[in-house]
Amino acid sequence: MTDLRDKAFATRAVHAGERAPRPDYTPVATPIHPTVGYLYDSIDDLDAIFATTREGYVYPRYGSPTVAAFESALAELEGGEAAHAFASGMGAILAALLAAGVRAGTTVVAAPDLYGATYTLLNRLFTELGATVRFVDVTDLSAVEGALAETRPAALVAETISNPLLKVADLPTLADLAHRHGAQLLVDNTFASPYLCNPLVHGADFVIHSATKFIGGHGDVMAGVVVTSAENRRGLYELNKLVGGVLGPFEAWLALRGLKTLPLRVRQQCANATRIAKWLAEHPKIAGVNYPGLPTHPQHKLARRLFGGQGFGGVLSFEIAGADRATVFRFMEALELCLPATTLGDIYTLVLHPATSSHRSLSAEERARVGIGEGLVRLSAGVEDAADLIADLEQALASAS
Ligand SMILES: Cc1ncc(COP(=O)(O)O)c(C=O)c1O
Repeated sequence: MTDLRDKAFATRAVHAGERAPRPDYTPVATPIHPTVGYLYDSIDDLDAIFATTREGYVYPRYGSPTVAAFESALAELEGGEAAHAFASGMGAILAALLAAGVRAGTTVVAAPDLYGATYTLLNRLFTELGATVRFVDVTDLSAVEGALAETRPAALVAETISNPLLKVADLPTLADLAHRHGAQLLVDNTFASPYLCNPLVHGADFVIHSATKFIGGHGDVMAGVVVTSAENRRGLYELNKLVGGVLGPFEAWLALRGLKTLPLRVRQQCANATRIAKWLAEHPKIAGVNYPGLPTHPQHKLARRLFGGQGFGGVLSFEIAGADRATVFRFMEALELCLPATTLGDIYTLVLHPATSSHRSLSAEERARVGIGEGLVRLSAGVEDAADLIADLEQALASAS
């Protein structure tokens, strides 16, 4: 620390208390490092870090310690060599597509029932930029194989558990098919979380999370992350150095803190979602329930295999019998504990009307093709008591009709 005793007040106000000598202790929890500058004894070190011949930090758009701690935790939990964090899940998806080589003149084969913004990113932005996008139901493996053989795409894109229809992707088979046709497999693992599924272990090349959801887990932080090989990670790093969609240190800290209770939360969310799904499936006002934990779900056995019997996820969707948009809105307004907020994966139980929120950017025809009707409601189970949640759903269903 510089000796400030003979310096003027303004100089002391700037430098006092800063740059304490290196500590001889290690904090138990990772500190938040909000600095945008890093000092080294030798400028040669700074130069070597810029040249990537030495590890370190020079500027937070290139990397920063709290963010690096979050990245390293995600690489560990997903079983990947490396991870790169982004300011949001959408930032992570865009970067993964670019790092996988999606460009003008290339093709992407993608599931049609993706999160609405991912669908629109592919269908509008990438299409406008000159890429070709072919949507294929990824649960129809022969249709996927046909599309891959015909188009030889750069990337195959799927969600482990799809938003909002809860279809489960056969990741090992999709990885095999993608690689046989020269494509990389990109998997959005947001709904499953690394607790239930590690797509890299099943052959995926890029795993993407909206860490805003289960990973952060408390509804108070927006973040995204891609887990991949060390080589692909270098591509993400070079890209984000230029486009700047970086995660901030405060957000990285919140996400890292949330991550620590991921297994506790997801176990409770899976148990709550299972009880709610079973109850809804028997309810006379409910026309259908999508939840991989129900034995009637078309990919129930696959989900059990992929998720190692640890659960089937915290999200489900259901169709209120004969409901139009207004009936669903009245149902959502009548809820007292379940919150009608536009997110998922929190400790709070959350409901959403996909047609007017998560999938609003799709045209009515696109939604109809994908199977998202006006009466569809998505529910993300929180960690509250399941009986209280069911009582809330019961009174809201009664008052809405
Ligand atoms: C499955 C899935 N992927 C990605 C995203 C985008 O994440 P973010 O909102 O953090 O950009 C969402 C958002 O809801 C999502 O549900």
